[in-house]
Amino acid sequence: MCGIVGYIGEQCAVPILLEGLAKLEYRGYDSAGIAVLDDGTVEVKKQKGKLNNLVNSMNGFYKEAVSGIGHTRWATHGRPNNENAHPHTDCTGKIAVVHNGIIENYMELREWLISRGHSFKSETDTEVLPHLIEELYQGDLVDTLQQVISKVEGSYAMVAMNAENSGELAAARHDSPLIIGLGEGENFLASDIPAILKHTRNTYILEDGEVARITPREVNISDSQGRPVLKEVFKVQWEQGQAEKNGYPHFMLKEIYEQPRAIRDTLAGRVSLDEGKVTLKEIKLDEEKVSQIDKIYITACGTAYHAGMVGKSIIESLARVPVEVDIASELRYRDVMMNENTLVIVISQSGETADTLASLREANRVGARTLAVTNVVDSSIAREAGDVLYTWAGPEIAVASTKAYTTQLVAMYLLGLYLAQKRETIDRGEAVEIINNLRELSTKVETTLQNGEKIKQFAEQYSNSTSSFFIGRGLDYAVALEGALKLKEISYMHAEAYAAGELKHGTLSLIVEGVPVVALATQQHVYDKMISNIKEVKARDATVLALAPEGFTGIEQVVDEAVFIPEAHPVIAPVLTVVPLQMLAYYMALQRGCDVDQPRNLAKSVTVE
Ligand code: AGP
Repeated sequence: MCGIVGYIGEQCAVPILLEGLAKLEYRGYDSAGIAVLDDGTVEVKKQKGKLNNLVNSMNGFYKEAVSGIGHTRWATHGRPNNENAHPHTDCTGKIAVVHNGIIENYMELREWLISRGHSFKSETDTEVLPHLIEELYQGDLVDTLQQVISKVEGSYAMVAMNAENSGELAAARHDSPLIIGLGEGENFLASDIPAILKHTRNTYILEDGEVARITPREVNISDSQGRPVLKEVFKVQWEQGQAEKNGYPHFMLKEIYEQPRAIRDTLAGRVSLDEGKVTLKEIKLDEEKVSQIDKIYITACGTAYHAGMVGKSIIESLARVPVEVDIASELRYRDVMMNENTLVIVISQSGETADTLASLREANRVGARTLAVTNVVDSSIAREAGDVLYTWAGPEIAVASTKAYTTQLVAMYLLGLYLAQKRETIDRGEAVEIINNLRELSTKVETTLQNGEKIKQFAEQYSNSTSSFFIGRGLDYAVALEGALKLKEISYMHAEAYAAGELKHGTLSLIVEGVPVVALATQQHVYDKMISNIKEVKARDATVLALAPEGFTGIEQVVDEAVFIPEAHPVIAPVLTVVPLQMLAYYMALQRGCDVDQPRNLAKSVTVE
């Protein structure tokens, strides 16, 4: 997610803006920029790459200016480059805007504005905002922003300035955080508290739909109807480190709780319930090309590989194409049969994993069609794949992947529906049901997160175990693999995932009294079999924690602890089932005194083979 700063007061704005952006660097970004208002004109300076590139380009840039806005960009729509960096301006250059979020209807707004004579310089969704302000402006910047947000769909935290309204900044918020820092004869804006903590601890937290007029001495906030809103001052108690984690003790926990937002963003503008279809404008695979695909490979490493295992089930069941999933470090050395009718899907959060990149290059070399699912715009894998479907999870800082994984699953659903639509292997009713489930996912993840305390207690009880097992059938087995990896990589406890039906063929010999077994039972068609497998391990005195949908009553009689997740289409269940497993790993690691965010021996991006 992008970082926003703003300042209006009596001090020189440029150093305050640059220092504020530096405090937001931990979030990850690929370009940065500022705009200041000086002597009636808006001046913009922006650079691709790290903040240093921007700082080094300053050369005394408008050091007398006393108001301005700044931005660090994590690219979603449009590559990381100078043109796509924020702030963005209108045709006249008098209006500048910085934005964090996704404007879902930006294409139609852009087409309308072009028809009204506006010309665009970037590929971004954000650039429609300054042109909308220019188009609708009647003299009052805040009134204009009210009109703008009535036309915009999606998530935004935005700050605007206009040379015609030199004594103020305007801000609006929907679904992306934005705070106002209250000073003496000066005021600040930021997407995150760390950017303003040096200057003030007194803040207003903007709520969804609210619009603010900020001058050096006043902050006036109104609701989406233009009615004045009286805000209480929120006094920040956090120190710098806590503020970077938004108050969470670790980045991993923050990112676990960011999943509802990440899922919403990844779905934004791509699913239409009315039409019952998925639209992936960025994918070049049209009906003809899709009809020629007779085999799909999914290849990745680690958590991304586990997402691919879920993807196999989804794409096969929806698009009726055979799918093979292979670990990238294996696939690249296998003599696989690929040709122009093969689609190779590579999944990689970082877009830089060496083995995955090597498999992609091998697929390209033999002429297969390739499609990347990645979280980093313009990454090596994104650049070298024939098509790219981006997840919009925002920067993931913790080594253990959480929100990137669940948004990779969302990408698998989108691809499965997209391919099924192109191959006409799904009827509208089924598509609508799955899309409906996708749209409800964020809310259901929020509900699932409420199990945190119960999971924490289970972790406290069993954190001294030396080994644990995760069992499931079908999609639950794929999720069990991810749960076991999460636990291993951050708590250093041995964990093994097993197809539940396979236990009796050997591993059951390891199940003895007190061994913790996590049983995933979300798939109705094999539920009875799962109950039998649970009884198998209970008969050996294992301790069983079961995860099941709310409607699967009775399971709590059979196990030691049951965690219930909201009902959902069985295909969609993995996104919900994994959340308690992420929390289990987190709390086990805490209990065992491990470094949750930076576990030993591991790196966030494995760029070596
Ligand atoms: C996930 O928790 C791990 N950190 C690791 O398995 C990771 O998923 C794997 O290295 C692949 O990374 P990528 O998605 O960036 O390619």
